[in-house]
Amino acid sequence: MVDALRDAGRVCSAAVEEAFRAVPRHLFLPGLGLAEAYADEAVAVQFAGGVATSSASQPSMVAIMLEQLDVRPGQRVLEIGAGTGYNAALLARLVGPTGAVTSVDIDEDLIDRAAVHLASAGVDRVELVAGDGALGHAPGAPYDRIVLTVGSDDVRPEWLAQLAPGGRLLLPLAVRGSQLSTAFDLGPDGVLRSHSVRSCAFIRLRGAAASPDANTCLDGIGVALQVPADGPQPDAAAVAGALADPRGHRDCTVPLGSVDVWDGFGLWLALTEPGACRLLAVEPQTALPDDLLPLGAGSGTVGLVAAPGAVPGVAAVVLGGDDRAPLRVRASGPSGDALAERLLATLERWGAVERPGAPDWRFVAVPRGIDVDLPERAAVVDKRHCRLLADLPGRTIV
Ligand SMILES: C[S@@+](CC[C@H](N)C(=O)[O-])C[C@H]1O[C@@H](n2cnc3c(N)ncnc32)[C@H](O)[C@@H]1O
Repeated sequence: MVDALRDAGRVCSAAVEEAFRAVPRHLFLPGLGLAEAYADEAVAVQFAGGVATSSASQPSMVAIMLEQLDVRPGQRVLEIGAGTGYNAALLARLVGPTGAVTSVDIDEDLIDRAAVHLASAGVDRVELVAGDGALGHAPGAPYDRIVLTVGSDDVRPEWLAQLAPGGRLLLPLAVRGSQLSTAFDLGPDGVLRSHSVRSCAFIRLRGAAASPDANTCLDGIGVALQVPADGPQPDAAAVAGALADPRGHRDCTVPLGSVDVWDGFGLWLALTEPGACRLLAVEPQTALPDDLLPLGAGSGTVGLVAAPGAVPGVAAVVLGGDDRAPLRVRASGPSGDALAERLLATLERWGAVERPGAPDWRFVAVPRGIDVDLPERAAVVDKRHCRLLADLPGRTIV
């Protein structure tokens, strides 16, 4: 597993490689065969209502995040999302005997199991805490590193208050429909500046920092609509009506593979266009023709939706089918053609700035209450506890 992670460029540093080689993953997944324990797959370990609420994250993602975190010997680290305890064991190895690792999970039962796993691996330097990680863990502060291995919608003030000056906060942060593993460094002005950004897909926080479901189910068509929480909220009935009124397809003028869609073009669209939306097939589609979401239940796509009160319409990229053929845009509803034009123009602009993906973006998170004069940015995302400023260094956005 470690050879493969190194060959794939997921493990880069000698310290992370050594930690991976020293911590046996199978001890954190008792009952699983060795082949499964060392496959590059996430393993769900707890469910509620058929949905995974805890998992051992995919080793590739664990490695990417440990490289982003850049843990040094002797540091104090807080992990939020102890899960199986595997990542905590890797962190303990990285900080060494002079450092300290505290790992919090909201489920007492998971904490008890993580304690057994850590003991079986001979790791005795992790402090496990059952509690809501939204609050961090003040008794152990300040921390040089705080890492969430669970998705968050926001940057909580508690985490910032517990971060040492110059410390690093790494979290899977929701950014207009994308989830981005973002490593922020805390500046002397109290502002966080991203050091590196990667795509990810984590289970989301429960407890005080849980976010409401971002999806609006569109009646009768088995599709959920997702629009950024900080933008206008379109009328669901108008969107459903528009989707049931197809106005033809257009070919994408810029090559767009299905892998580019979410955190490549989709992120660009969400950050630069106010009407950006995501459409998700939530159940077997009965009323909707399969020329919108041909891959069926569980699939999704990105698009543009008319503003509330405007002439209804939707334009969406159609994913699936023949991968060699250019992707198409489906226009729907009375303003669908105009939106399709706009979507294609946005795609051209994305092509013109060399098709940026998640790692190309830089974010500045300004906590509420901090007044700093920062240059204008490409995009601004307003969250409850911070204002996120997004930029593409070295590229001119027109
Ligand atoms: C992807 S798993 C973490 C994997 C873990 N780091 C490992 O190595 O196995 C996400 C974890 O976050 C926990 N979690 C969810 N909400 C939480 C909260 N508010 N505070 C602390 N932990 C939380 C879940 O119970 C789950 O165990």
